[in-house]
Amino acid sequence: MFTVLIIGALLAGAFARPSANYLENDFGAGSDSEGVRSEALRRLLEVFGMEDPPHARGHVQPPQYMVDLYNTVADVDGVTKDPNLLEGNTVRGFFDKLRSEEIKFMFNLSTVSKSEKVLAAELHLFKLRPQSVQTFSRHHFCQVSVYQLLNGRKMDSTLDKRLLSSRLMPIHSSGWEVFSITQAVRSWMSDEGSNLGLLVSIRGLGGYQLDPSLVRFASGRSHHQSKQPMLVLFTDDGRRTPTQEGTLNDHSGSPLPVPSREPRVVRSLDEELPQGAPCQRLPLYVDFEEIGWSSWIVSPRGYNAYHCKGSCPFPLGQNMRPTNHATVQSIINALKLTRGIDTPCCVPDKLFSINLLYFDDDGNVVLKQYDDMVAGSCGCH
Ligand SMILES: *[C@@H]1O[C@H](CO)[C@@H](O)[C@H](O)[C@H]1NC(C)=O
Repeated sequence: MFTVLIIGALLAGAFARPSANYLENDFGAGSDSEGVRSEALRRLLEVFGMEDPPHARGHVQPPQYMVDLYNTVADVDGVTKDPNLLEGNTVRGFFDKLRSEEIKFMFNLSTVSKSEKVLAAELHLFKLRPQSVQTFSRHHFCQVSVYQLLNGRKMDSTLDKRLLSSRLMPIHSSGWEVFSITQAVRSWMSDEGSNLGLLVSIRGLGGYQLDPSLVRFASGRSHHQSKQPMLVLFTDDGRRTPTQEGTLNDHSGSPLPVPSREPRVVRSLDEELPQGAPCQRLPLYVDFEEIGWSSWIVSPRGYNAYHCKGSCPFPLGQNMRPTNHATVQSIINALKLTRGIDTPCCVPDKLFSINLLYFDDDGNVVLKQYDDMVAGSCGCH
């Protein structure tokens, strides 16, 4: 009902001033409407789990891995293709803060909330081709090990690091190498001060030292941005609401409907919806550019949230997807058995999640899934 009211108010506003944009323009004169506008923006950010919109990032390219991941889980509209593809609902890509010449890395995870559940963490390193050619014949493989640096209180220097992951790899190879570092990230999350970074060691097969020009990884300092070392963190923030098939989630504290103007063609369709037309799903495009968020959202540019509109008269056919409760209410209404009983409401009865790829305030790239954002179908409830 609230949705219908708000959309009604938006449409009324749009009719009064055809070019008016609910969020960016003053749609009313009083300070009241200004208050509504800022409250609407605040609530909208809340839906996306934020207090303030992140700062714009200019023309920074998001890492290809994160773009590929987004395209794997989301369609062009940002709608989740398959809810089982991603285990949690948040993936972040962090860049190395040390930018050291050594193969030593430090990632600042302060943007991750303590309440988030760490599912997996990976160190992504880009292996470069060997620089020197003369030693080729002698070595074919190397052993690459990733260590977590620990507080070295003990005198014995071997005790100040913990092995996280180790692998043999061909010396000639080039491309991304991924190491699991979940253990280290879990310990950093429980004690932020323990984050002393990661160290990578490269050895020959017998444990001997290799010529450093032979096995190299790209550093954030001297190589292209697209090859920067990255920590990829998979978490779940617990906001995901388990949906039971055929039922809707409890929507107490449900998101404020997105106050976006519908594209003209959509609105005219809507206007033509005849009086008494049956409950149906209609487009409702949420345009991040119009909301003023296109500077920090990488993808999508917007999405179709859809909305439900139409009447639910007696008798309710199965195509109205009525609940038993709605059927009974519609009968009571038709028979006028009790005064003041309306016909059931036309509301979303299946909701899909969308994905957002964006830069956070710390310059990390975040892929986040938001549940219940798109009306998949409508029914009389
Ligand atoms: C991590 O980032 C936060 C916020 O950007 C900053 O306040 C903090 O000092 C940083 N921590 C380290 C160890 O650099």
